[in-house]
Amino acid sequence: MEDYRFGGHIIINADTTELDLYGIFGQTPIIYTDPPWNDYWVTRFSEGKHKSFIDLITNMAIQFKKFSSIMYIEMGRANIDTFLEIMDYNKATMLNLWKLPYKTSYSYLYRGYFNGKHEALQKELPSGKGDEPIIELLDQDIKTSLWEQPSTILDPFIGVDGRTLFMAEKLGIKCRGVEISPLKVKKLIDKYYRIYGK
Ligand SMILES: C[S@@+](CC[C@H](N)C(=O)[O-])C[C@H]1O[C@@H](n2cnc3c(N)ncnc32)[C@H](O)[C@@H]1O
Repeated sequence: MEDYRFGGHIIINADTTELDLYGIFGQTPIIYTDPPWNDYWVTRFSEGKHKSFIDLITNMAIQFKKFSSIMYIEMGRANIDTFLEIMDYNKATMLNLWKLPYKTSYSYLYRGYFNGKHEALQKELPSGKGDEPIIELLDQDIKTSLWEQPSTILDPFIGVDGRTLFMAEKLGIKCRGVEISPLKVKKLIDKYYRIYGK
């Protein structure tokens, strides 16, 4: 496990399923993630420890519930029922999730609220390109006191594009991220330095 600290952010190169995320990062008000939905990657990276994506996400969700009350999770339509079943099974106390029609379109999303029951809300996204609509929406939720300005945001599968990292930077909050691929970590940090030069 290697950790990289820059601009107040922390990125760890490790298998997130092997870590005690609460022990490392402490209370994290918001989790925002785009997990590896593909069973092939899950089993490959975790060397068979998790039988499937469902197994992995169930284990992660149990862990998240201990130290985070809000969770945004990107998923396609195909995954939503599975995920709600898992959360129901685990009796999540509170879960907010966003369902995005994956990357191809940010024209709308559902924000589901789960508290023993769930409802899906359809909401227009602000216009913009790439990650901007998501950043703007999170910003709006904070400004309209849907929840307080978080001090940190955690992405347990942070990847290489840096959506969570750059969102955190724009909102002035600290990013905590975990990524299993050393190459992706390097590329992500290089990108950060290219953009922010610090
Ligand atoms: C869907 S991608 C995330 C994409 C991300 N939003 C981005 O901006 O690049 C999922 C990421 O999880 C990573 N991953 C898969 N299994 C992992 C594990 N066990 N621990 C940490 N990261 C893992 C993959 O390498 C991949 O980068």
